[in-house]
Amino acid sequence: MRKLILSLIIAAFVLPVQANEGMWFLMHIERLNYRDMQKMGLQLTPEEIYSVNHSSLKDAIVQFDRGCTAEIISDSGLVLTNHHCGYSKIAELSTAENDYLTNGYWAANHAEELKPKSLSVRFFVRMDDVSKRILGQVNDKMSELDREAAINREIAKIQEENSEDGKYTVSVKSFYEGNEFYYFVYQDYNDVRLVGTPPASIGKFGGDTDNWEWPRHTGDFSLFRVYADKDGNPAEYSEDNVPLNPKHHLTTSLKGFEEDDFAMILGYPGRTNRWMPAGGIEQNVEYAYPAWVEASKTSMDVMKGYMDKDQSVKLDYASSYAGIANYWKNRQGMIDALKQHETADTKRKAEKKFQKWASKKSNKKYADVMPVINDYYSKTNEASQHDNYLGLLLRTRMATIPYRLGKSIGYYLEQNDAKKEELKPKLDAEIENLYEGLYVPLERDVLAAQFKLYSTKAKNIAPMVAEIADEANKTEDGWKEYLNDALQNSIFESKEKLQGFMANPDAEVLQKDPLLLLSNDLLTRYRYNSEEQKQWDNDFERAYRLMVQGMRLQNPDEKYYPDANSTLRLTYGKVISLPEDTRNDANKNYYTTLKGTVAKYQPGDAEFDMPKELIELYEKKDFGQYADKDGYLPVNFLTDNDITGGNSGSPVLNGKGELIGIAFDGNIEAMAGDVIFDDQLQRTISVDIRYVLFLIDKLAGASHIIDELTLAK
Ligand code: ARG
Repeated sequence: MRKLILSLIIAAFVLPVQANEGMWFLMHIERLNYRDMQKMGLQLTPEEIYSVNHSSLKDAIVQFDRGCTAEIISDSGLVLTNHHCGYSKIAELSTAENDYLTNGYWAANHAEELKPKSLSVRFFVRMDDVSKRILGQVNDKMSELDREAAINREIAKIQEENSEDGKYTVSVKSFYEGNEFYYFVYQDYNDVRLVGTPPASIGKFGGDTDNWEWPRHTGDFSLFRVYADKDGNPAEYSEDNVPLNPKHHLTTSLKGFEEDDFAMILGYPGRTNRWMPAGGIEQNVEYAYPAWVEASKTSMDVMKGYMDKDQSVKLDYASSYAGIANYWKNRQGMIDALKQHETADTKRKAEKKFQKWASKKSNKKYADVMPVINDYYSKTNEASQHDNYLGLLLRTRMATIPYRLGKSIGYYLEQNDAKKEELKPKLDAEIENLYEGLYVPLERDVLAAQFKLYSTKAKNIAPMVAEIADEANKTEDGWKEYLNDALQNSIFESKEKLQGFMANPDAEVLQKDPLLLLSNDLLTRYRYNSEEQKQWDNDFERAYRLMVQGMRLQNPDEKYYPDANSTLRLTYGKVISLPEDTRNDANKNYYTTLKGTVAKYQPGDAEFDMPKELIELYEKKDFGQYADKDGYLPVNFLTDNDITGGNSGSPVLNGKGELIGIAFDGNIEAMAGDVIFDDQLQRTISVDIRYVLFLIDKLAGASHIIDELTLAK
């Protein structure tokens, strides 16, 4: 494995798009990809994938909870996504007594489906290119701020024209770093309910140890349902709402697949930076990511201490902990992969070529682009380190609650009585909401550890923090002492204290509140940009846009795809192994089976425990119609599709567009993937749909859900 990795320094950057690289727009498939896809095994027409006027595949793909992807798999609005995508909702619906996160949950009928406080799915209606229209509003002489303002004015018009009086959400986004613009029309449904979830010992089997790793054995799925009014329109929660009869739902395949079979994924990748220059990569590897990793670990250690002691604290913080842990490992993986593959050097070489091209007289518009970019990174290394330390600190809820509520309460206190009466219920709800599940001792200790780290490691820190750090003698205990005092003297220490304050509010007390002062200090620092910095940002943005423009001109015959930015994309490729791996139980290293899950089983372990019912099913080999042709129960598998965070929950489809799996992860060896696609190493890790159906049918006994599906056998 190691030897292989070292020999793979691949230049995807401004070189031809490698085999299965690319996150493509649905409206471009016909022109750019269709022939290639057909050759590889696609049997659908472009119209069957994306049609504005007829129902097509795209109508079965939704963005889930604004950060993940999901698919509609029945004519009653059944929604399939990852367990880790439903995680925060499952935790929210759980209590220490009815702990669905730990034990799983299966609604026996529609009435038992559980409504989380807020959860929405977003359907994609259509998209179009508005580059000409938007770029017609700007010229090269404008400052970046003026440019942005002109663009935003035009965007507002486009939104207005396409929203049909609020029926649709319209989003206009920039692509290729401000060189192209597309608009997207969506329809949101806000009544979405939990139908079923396996226990975390299946849905998160392997925990953070196996996260981002292959071979994998995780049943990372959960089921929800979209509800609508009786005419099928979006409606806020009501008992009268009914399951949505969708325009389209996926057919689920029980047929399995083989290595080299065609596989495609539709979904909402969140962010890639494939154009990122060498200087940016170096800044991330040396300054930004190490700070991120260190600060994440600092929070995790303190949180874990409290979560292990108390099950209800654990449920309240489970989702936030998992989120931090996920990117803690991801960022360390990126540091390692980017160093190992010498990605910055690869990009530097391409930049040299570009510079040569840009030095030609006819290309002089681009002549100073690379120097400006390089200069920017060398001037902002410390700032990026600072921002990452502070960014993690600000994820501590107690760091931001005083700021947010201080603003709302301050505004409230300035109003006349009538207006106050009108605002009060909203303010009360905001307070309830922000303090829900907040555990002050944990918050205090995370803050103390974070303040210690920030004040000793970051440069040019928030002024009040610097002052207190001197007094607190910069130790964690010193910070704890300071925070204990501050909490005691603050109205923000607890919901009850705040409610007491609101019964008899006093603007002066608010203004002098020690936690509010500290919170304001942090947020002010976070948003502060010196005049000098503003000028650098301006020059950098312009240069970055021109660099991408120039690099595309430099290679005009290439097929390009834009960086991910949470818009719907399609990636196609095939089922494919990684090189032999002795840790894998299966015959070929492109799939795993329940045998391998059981081999990892560690009774009582926090990450590798298994439900005993699953062990029993394994021992009886009671796999029913879900076994593969050799009699094993497939669990996870690999494809070479091009995905990133946000694709989680996306359907993996075969050549007929049938569901064969749910994408849920990437592999650590390819963690440089967000800035460079490595053809040989980059894999998507998915749950085999046969494992999902087996768990629903045999483990949960929820055969009524199987009956709801459209199966291809
Ligand atoms: N790595 C996955 C992603 O970013 C999340 C997996 C969640 N599981 C976990 N053990 N933290 O989509």
